[in-house]
Order: sequence, then C-alpha cells, then structure tokens
Amino acid sequence: MKKKVSILGSTGSIGTQALEVISKLQDDFEVVSLCAGNNIELLREQIKKFSPRFVSVGIEENAEILSKEFPLIKFNFGDEGLCEASKIEDNDIVLVALSGKAGLKPTLAAIETGKDIALANKETLVMAGDIVMKRAREKGVKILPVDSEHSAIFQCLDGRNDIKNLIITSSGGPFRTWTKEQMRSADLSQALNHPRWNMGKKITVDSATLMNKGLEVIEAHHLFNVDYKDIKVVVHPQSYLHSAVEYFDGSIIGQMGIPSMHIPIQYALTYPKRVEGIETGSFDFVTASKLEFFEPDFEKFPCLKLAFEAGKTGGTSTVCLNASNEEAVYAFLRGEIGFCDIYEVVKTCMDSYSVISEPAIEQILSEDAKIREFSKKVISSLKVKG
Ligand SMILES: NC(=O)c1ccc[n+]([C@@H]2O[C@H](COP(=O)([O-])OP(=O)(O)OC[C@H]3O[C@@H](n4cnc5c(N)ncnc54)[C@H](OP(=O)(O)O)[C@@H]3O)[C@@H](O)[C@H]2O)c1
Repeated sequence: MKKKVSILGSTGSIGTQALEVISKLQDDFEVVSLCAGNNIELLREQIKKFSPRFVSVGIEENAEILSKEFPLIKFNFGDEGLCEASKIEDNDIVLVALSGKAGLKPTLAAIETGKDIALANKETLVMAGDIVMKRAREKGVKILPVDSEHSAIFQCLDGRNDIKNLIITSSGGPFRTWTKEQMRSADLSQALNHPRWNMGKKITVDSATLMNKGLEVIEAHHLFNVDYKDIKVVVHPQSYLHSAVEYFDGSIIGQMGIPSMHIPIQYALTYPKRVEGIETGSFDFVTASKLEFFEPDFEKFPCLKLAFEAGKTGGTSTVCLNASNEEAVYAFLRGEIGFCDIYEVVKTCMDSYSVISEPAIEQILSEDAKIREFSKKVISSLKVKG
C-alpha cells in the first residue's frame, strides 16, 4: 500500500525537496494534494508530475486559472484550502512545509482529523505549542519533526525521556565571524548568503539573526517536553552534528551526517522505516577532519536571548516574538529596515506587550493580529528615522 501524503507548501524549499524524495520512492508514496501560495508556474509542473486530486493556492484568481487547465482536479484557495487539504480522509500523513503563521490552522485541522503530521513549520509550535501538542496527544496523532535539529533529537531519543540536556547545534549563520559594527551595515544579499543551507528567505534571515535557533529552542521545548534550562545551544560551523541528547549517566548521543534536508524530510515521511532514498552522499570522518564547537554569543545575537526569555515567560509571549519577528523580517526583505532593526522591532514589541498566560486558540490568533499591527507601526517609525 502506498502512503498517501498531502504537501502544504509544495513550491518552497522543503516542499520541493519532499517531492524529490517522493520521486525517488514512487512505489511507496502517492501525492493526494498539493498546496502553494503564489508560485503557480512551479505548481503547474508539480500537478502534471504528481497528479494530485486536490490543489490549493493562495488566491481565488489563481485557483480559477488552474481549474480551467486541470478540470478533473478539485481546487480551493486561502486558509480554507489549506485546511481542506489537511482534512482529506485518505491522507496518511500531512507535510506542513508552509512558512510563517500560515502553518497553524492546517496543522490543527490535520490533528482534528487524526492525521499524522510531518512538521517543518516551526512557527506553529512557537505560536501554539501547548495547544497543538496536547491536542495531538489526545487524538493519538504523531508529530514527526522535519527540522534537522529536531529530527536529530527525535532519532537520539528513540522514545526515551530520561534526559539531562538537549544540545541543539547551530551553524552560526553568515555573520558568525562578523563584528556587531559590521552587522549594522549588513545588506540583504549578505543576510541571504547562508554558509551551509539553501532555504526559503524567511528562515535564511532568521538564521542570520539566530532568531531561527531561538524558534527552534521553543519548538524543541514543546516537541520533547523539556524545560528551557535543559536546552543548550552550541555553535558548530561545520553542521555535521545535527543535534544531540545528553543522558543522566553522562552519555551523549548525537545524530550526524552531511547537511542535507532530504534526510530529515525522508525520515519523517518513511518513519519508522529507514530506506535508501535520495542520494545525498555520505559523511566521511577523515575528510571532515575538524569539528568545532563554540558558545553562542548572546550579545552579538540578541534575538536568541529574546527567544529564550519569551519561551520561559510562556503564554502569548512567544506569539509576540513570532509575529513581530515575521513582520520585521518581511520589512527587511522589502528593504524597508536594516538588518539590526529586526531585533529593535521585536524588542520594542516584546517590551510593550502584556502576556496572556493560558490563551485559547482564538486569543492566540487575535493577539497575533494585534501584534502585527503594532509591529507595522514600529517598522514605520524606524523607516522615518532612516
Ligand atoms: N528550508 C529549510 O531547509 C528548512 C529547514 C528547517 C525548517 N524549515 C521550516 O519549514 C518551513 C518552510 O520553510 P521553507 O524554507 O521551505 O520556506 P519557503 O521556501 O519560503 O516555502 C514556503 C512555502 O509555503 C507556501 N506558502 C507560504 N505562505 C502561504 C500561504 N499563506 N498560503 C499558501 N501557501 C503559502 C509558499 O508558496 P509560494 O512560494 O507558492 O508562494 C511555499 O510553497 C518554515 O517554517 C521553516 O522554518 C525549513
């Protein structure tokens, strides 16, 4: 029996790599639905190749255009389309590879329908980790991590929970060796020039500020139910050790390999099986020769510090962190603010925010909208200052 999979975010970095994995494992997978935002050129090619039954796009106009070209396929658009894909009865697994807050509603919809989830979209757990994980437990839904660090920890844990520390590695991003002064004049192309990973723009900028590592710490707290004081970040520029678990007896078990997202994507899709899929090349200890590890510099990368603080505060604090960061990153991508302004926007929003301690999902969504409005005002004031 083929595993039936829906791919939300099929035109993105994770989505396209997932489809490469599936192309290699054609006898094992059937693509039930594809969902994308605006890139309908690529989506059109994917539809021709994978023949899904259902497709969702960002806007109605594009759904209409494509439905004329593919009359046998059902189309929808927007949040409703994403949730419809998540709820398809036939799904065995839903890959949530959307970027930003768009992942939350379809993840919850998949959980309510009892479908296992391969989760790449870390923002879902940053916004609503308590609710998502509780509901997944109640419905018996597996949340299989796609993020390489969390896939590594998931593999090292192998179902155990007698953990002393989680050790999350970070490449350090493109500005690891820059001074704070140099970072002030960092431009977009420099921020997007990640030394190890080729990813979507939002996560690449997050990797340059190390906010991405902070979001991953919050993601790990929820996925593995580990206290923030027991989560350590270690900078490892070579990115061969993808993360590790320290046990109480002093043993550290890590997961290693070449830096390739194909491996964690494939493991989430084929779990619990390990299969020979896409050719990624193998890691060679002798050729690699050097593995370096450093303390993260919280002063130079204050977004990481903010994320730990937001995680420890809990409630809607992480909603504020996520929403203000997302707005600031998109403003930076549009050239409206400077690289270091990303931190200023998030810090200003966090400082003036009143946290709700145990929010319901509706409160999370309404707080998210309010924080985004406030963030836009902060961004405008920075634009005026120039
Ligand atoms: N890339 C990586 O290596 C990596 C590693 C670990 C974790 N992640 C996480 O995985 C997620 C995806 O990252 P990515 O790098 O793959 O991002 P990406 O390249 O920007 O792709 C995002 C995908 O989501 C779609 N999308 C975004 N907003 C949407 C909306 N409102 N409605 C419908 N579709 C929407 C985009 O569609 P269009 O392009 O068609 O508009 C695209 O298919 C993020 O949460 C990221 O943190 C990524």
